Amino acid sequence: MSELKTNKIMGAVLSAALFTVGLGVVGPRFFPDHIPTKAGFAVDIPADIAGPAKPAAAAPADTPPDWGTVLPKADIAAGQATTAICQACHNFSAAGTNMIGPGLYGVLGRQPGTHPGFAYSQAMIDFGKKQPVWDYDHIYMFIGGPQAYIPGTKMTYTGLKDPQARINVIAYLHTLGSKLPVPAPKGGS
Ligand code: HEC
Repeated sequence: MSELKTNKIMGAVLSAALFTVGLGVVGPRFFPDHIPTKAGFAVDIPADIAGPAKPAAAAPADTPPDWGTVLPKADIAAGQATTAICQACHNFSAAGTNMIGPGLYGVLGRQPGTHPGFAYSQAMIDFGKKQPVWDYDHIYMFIGGPQAYIPGTKMTYTGLKDPQARINVIAYLHTLGSKLPVPAPKGGS
């Protein structure tokens, strides 16, 4: 065997060996020997900091009701009872005392972000410039999901999801120095 031929054979053997080693290194990347059942790991984010939930395809749109129809039928006492949740942060008396949140007496008809002596978020102040009156629709949407409705608000409460509970709370607020009339039902009569 000529030296050249030997070299060629040795070369071929060497490249075959290198290729095999190479496969051993690269192969597992393409053919993992264990397939994870879960990608990554789950992080539990509490609902109140997770932000607005992506609406499920089937979820009905959250739209305010016809106030002229629902307000006269609302359960004011139930609404007052529900405000126990709000009272962790809000005072509802005519004194208008500020707590963690602003006093809510007379909030219906008031300009958002303007109760004297309360340090509102910039988000709420800006909202009040666009929307000069807390009317039924806007309070309904806000208390249903404060951070989703006014991103940056410092009302950290997650929101009162149940529409009827929200209507009842608003009917109760309407008994507390509200400046808004009850509108006529849209259906007429
Ligand atoms: C964890 C405390 C907390 C809870 C609970 C809470 N709020 Fe608030 N709320 C706040 C704070 C703080 C603000 C001021 C928001 C800002 O400046 O962005 C606020 C603002 C508001 C405003 C706007 C007031 C204004 O003067 O413009 C309304 C209306 C309101 N809350 C209603 C409610 C209702 C109704 C409930 C109960 C269903 C409730 N909140 C529960 C803390 C709370």
